[in-house]
Amino acid sequence: MRQCTTILLAKRAECRVKDLALKNIHFLFANATVSFKHIMSTYPGPLMLVSILCPDPHVKKKHHKRRVVQKPLVDSILDSLAPGGKVFIRSDVLEVAVDMRNLFDERRDLLQHVDSIDMTISCCVGGWPSKNPMEIRTEREIDAEFKGAKIYRRWYQKKLV
Ligand SMILES: C[S@@+](CC[C@H](N)C(=O)[O-])C[C@H]1O[C@@H](n2cnc3c(N)ncnc32)[C@H](O)[C@@H]1O
Repeated sequence: MRQCTTILLAKRAECRVKDLALKNIHFLFANATVSFKHIMSTYPGPLMLVSILCPDPHVKKKHHKRRVVQKPLVDSILDSLAPGGKVFIRSDVLEVAVDMRNLFDERRDLLQHVDSIDMTISCCVGGWPSKNPMEIRTEREIDAEFKGAKIYRRWYQKKLV
């Protein structure tokens, strides 16, 4: 049922794209954890931005393995991302945000946190920029902020060399 809803969302988004006659956007339904590498193998690229927006929290410890961001996905993203390309993560669940942050921070060999190279991005306590660098909020963010939750965001850039 949940999968059907997500497939329908992707189809609905494709319809909107057609209605608006946009040629540079495409939606597809996939399990990113499993299929990202395969999808990228046919992407003409360069890949300049990966956004991971409020992924399901799977709060129970025994379900953590279902979380989208796992080390193999982080490594695949970094293999595909062009130098200078960005990774943008956000969550309304601190534990999930920290989990994602730890996995991306581990790749400091290739990634810099953007606030260390762009001083216009002010950092608040805990290293979570207070400003949304993308400006547009997702449905989950709107709902979470409406209920008084904080959104934890982090933004990385792949090093040029
Ligand atoms: C809490 S909703 C957030 C939806 C939207 N990103 C937002 O912020 O409004 C989590 C979304 O993550 C998707 N998702 C969960 N696991 C996924 C995976 N392995 N690959 C791709 N999407 C996944 C779900 O289908 C669901 O749409």
